[in-house]
Amino acid sequence: MAYSETKVVLGGLAHIPIIIGFFYLIRRQYSFGAILRTGKNALSETVKAKAAAPAKAAAPAKAAAPAKAAPAKKPHADVPVNTYKPKAPFTGTVTENYSALKEGAIGKVQHITFDISGGDPDFKYIEGQSCGILAAGEDAKGKPHRPRLYSIASTRYGDNFAGNTLSLCVRQLQYEKDGETINGVCSTYLCNLSPGDKVKISGPVGKEMLLPDEEDANIIMLATGTGIAPMRAYLRRMFEPTEIEKHKWNFKGKAWLFMGAPKTANLLYDDDFEHYKAKFPENLRYTKAISREQQNDKGGRMYIQDRVLEHAEEIFNMIENPKTHIYLCGLKGMEPGIDEAMTTAAAAKGLDWSELRPKLRKAGRWHAETY
Ligand code: FAD
Ligand code: A2P
Repeated sequence: MAYSETKVVLGGLAHIPIIIGFFYLIRRQYSFGAILRTGKNALSETVKAKAAAPAKAAAPAKAAAPAKAAPAKKPHADVPVNTYKPKAPFTGTVTENYSALKEGAIGKVQHITFDISGGDPDFKYIEGQSCGILAAGEDAKGKPHRPRLYSIASTRYGDNFAGNTLSLCVRQLQYEKDGETINGVCSTYLCNLSPGDKVKISGPVGKEMLLPDEEDANIIMLATGTGIAPMRAYLRRMFEPTEIEKHKWNFKGKAWLFMGAPKTANLLYDDDFEHYKAKFPENLRYTKAISREQQNDKGGRMYIQDRVLEHAEEIFNMIENPKTHIYLCGLKGMEPGIDEAMTTAAAAKGLDWSELRPKLRKAGRWHAETY
């Protein structure tokens, strides 16, 4: 009897390492899932909205569930989208509205900043996103105006680095019809706002124009007019000293901005970009196409696609590097011209642009937003 009791006790003890091993495996699995979930992502800096709080609170219950590896997140899964829908917009307050043009420029383009603090959930966005603006008043049918989209021209930290503002770069739409000047509804509304005015804002929207996470990515930017808005946000993120202090994302790649404007006085944020170029000559190139002051080699207006052709060899050398992204923003009309220039440039390298472009797009390296 005594013998068999000893046997039972010894048998029981023999199971202890197995049980410990079993618990160790569960723990390891759980920690691995946690590492995946807390991996670096686009939002890890500051932009987790209050809206995310309930989901966070619920997380422990999920974590306690059977130890399954967390499914891989879609790229940019954490980027906020449609926090505020057009039917229930956020109300921002104008803090600044000033001309982004210099003396002698054509038209009206304004840099407008809104205070977006105090939302529940917070109105948070990242570089490359857009927002919707609902102009005050009603349309011809007595209905509220439909929202118009505008690219956000500030970084997530805002122009004041406090993380509670959003800036836009807006051209007032004006055209002649039957001898009358027609003013665009929303762009005119925005351009005429004064500090203190309340504005209905929806969004943020869009994941097409986001920057890659890699600090050594190369960024080619092709902008016409207000298409510079997202590029301004990228360049501030890359080269503005207070930004760099805030986010610790130390851009080490090559950035190349091609900017199209009708006149020198229409070059938006030109002084800032010249300053960045002087400070970071190894990292930033800035090439301008001033359509009504410069001519292309056929004697026509100088457009950014002409500049692309002039630098075709270097651009394609950059594109061969898988870390190179291309961003295109501004006039819809520039797309065929850019395509044509890229086709010629690619052919000179023995490449077929019609095959290459979809590949770049699929790889998430070709980003276009035109309007
Ligand atoms: P509306 O009153 O809506 O008038 C526009 C309409 O006028 C057109 O649909 C067309 O029917 C007519 N029209 C326009 N031009 C002519 C013409 N020459 N002759 C006859 N009819 C004409 N704009 C910016 O300024 N900055 C930005 O950063 C910006 N970002 C954008 C981002 C995205 C993703 C998109 C889709 C658009 C963006 N826009 C931007 C454009 C913006 O959304 C509006 O379309 C623009 O401001 C005009 O709106 P509106 O209400 O003033 O004009
Ligand atoms: P232009 O108007 O001289 O023909 P903005 O929005 O400030 O007017 O700037 C837009 C810039 O894009 C202008 O220089 C304009 O030239 C230029 N542009 C106009 N059409 C095209 C096009 N199809 N491709 C490239 N650039 C264009």
